[in-house]
Amino acid sequence: MDARGGEGLRVFGEAVAIVTGGASGIGAALGRELARRGSRVVLADRDEEGVRAEADRLAAGSARAEAVALDVRDAEAVEGVVARTFETHGRLDYLFNNAGIGVGGWAEELDLERDWRYTVEVNLMGPVHGVQAAYPRMVKQGFGHIVNTASMAAFMATALTAPYGTTKHAVVGLSRALRVEGALRGVRVSVLCPGVIRTPILQDGGKYGRAPITDLSAETKAAMWERLRPMAPEVFAVKVLDAVARNKGIIIVPAWWHALRLLNVLFPSLSEALGRRELRRMAPLLHRQQAGD
Ligand SMILES: NC(=O)c1ccc[n+]([C@@H]2O[C@H](COP(=O)([O-])OP(=O)(O)OC[C@H]3O[C@@H](n4cnc5c(N)ncnc54)[C@H](O)[C@@H]3O)[C@@H](O)[C@H]2O)c1
Repeated sequence: MDARGGEGLRVFGEAVAIVTGGASGIGAALGRELARRGSRVVLADRDEEGVRAEADRLAAGSARAEAVALDVRDAEAVEGVVARTFETHGRLDYLFNNAGIGVGGWAEELDLERDWRYTVEVNLMGPVHGVQAAYPRMVKQGFGHIVNTASMAAFMATALTAPYGTTKHAVVGLSRALRVEGALRGVRVSVLCPGVIRTPILQDGGKYGRAPITDLSAETKAAMWERLRPMAPEVFAVKVLDAVARNKGIIIVPAWWHALRLLNVLFPSLSEALGRRELRRMAPLLHRQQAGD
């Protein structure tokens, strides 16, 4: 898969790619697959130790990988990472705005700062900061591909995780608007909508997330996710990069989740009714937060 993309974009041999959230799960798997296909990868993550370990593992296998500590909530820091990548490598082919967290709870118990603003800052403003830093530079260089990670939550009524669903709907909106504009500027934009992928985010929202909606053991929660047939991140990354190479706008992996998107688009009331039924079924397993939780 070493074909040229539009107007100078490298697919993927000798490409330069930044992956945020590169220390874990989907980001780490994308980094490994990009490196395997010959890209130079900049892994950026709030988890400094984790991202260094991931880049070291890649570099030990002779891939070209760098680690950088980055909190995507910090617009200046994101700008700095993008600017330095351009200075060092003279180009940026791909930006994967992938860092994200899960936040959950009954809506009446969510806190404005701790839950809402935090989720918006990471899951929505994170990608916005990436776009602000990379998109104008890509327009200037005449090529580039931005891949924002949303979720299937972007198409569904995400009960018990309203802030997460809200931000993921917004990331699809951001990506689609930019894709239409970008087509006139030589810049590609895609939005990645994973179904369920076996990563740490499934356990209470990931390292920096916060989704303490049940007291069930980690094993029981994992078993619940298994019912949705989670995909291994390595398999996921291969399918995603193949779709990125084809410049797909909305990338849904695993493919069977397309059916759920269609159900939500064609029959929103039915989808919500099914959601209510599932929520009632789960309700006895869910705990309500204590003050200070
Ligand atoms: N795993 C799934 O089933 C699934 C489904 C749909 C969407 N997603 C999305 O995929 C993306 C990656 O998630 P994942 O499943 O790999 O989870 P993960 O928890 O394994 O990885 C998320 C990474 O983001 C990093 N991160 C969190 N906050 C950050 C911040 N402020 N700045 C920089 N880095 C930060 C974490 O340190 C971690 O390395 C997220 O946007 C998530 O919402 C995942």
